[in-house]
Amino acid sequence: MTHLVTENCIKCKHTDCVSVCPVDCFYEGPNFLVINPDECIDCAVCIPECPVNAIVAQEDIKDPIEHQYWFDINKRLSKKWPLITKQKSPPPDAGEWDGVPNKRNDIIE
Ligand code: SF4
Ligand code: F3S
Repeated sequence: MTHLVTENCIKCKHTDCVSVCPVDCFYEGPNFLVINPDECIDCAVCIPECPVNAIVAQEDIKDPIEHQYWFDINKRLSKKWPLITKQKSPPPDAGEWDGVPNKRNDIIE
């Protein structure tokens, strides 16, 4: 099992999560972060760090299609994007995107 970054991180990207991960398994794209499911040790310490509640335990995504979607996105993009281990400033308009639905089509790969 793993933890996964989901929809509400897109265009928010606060990066508080990366500073607490004991195994450094976050990877950064232009407007979204992902977790490498093969590296995550399921410790859950990143969950409360995210100001927009974008990180979830894999088993807590009950809808099977959503579950597979977010697992696949995290796995695929963590192979493509560079590691991030240090917190940085969020985008200036991050606050405007918190809670906006259907941001998944806005992921810049
Ligand atoms: Fe890192 Fe733990 Fe979060 Fe997995 S659950 S991404 S190991 S902090
Ligand atoms: Fe994204 Fe939350 Fe981390 S917005 S970058 S999952 S702190």
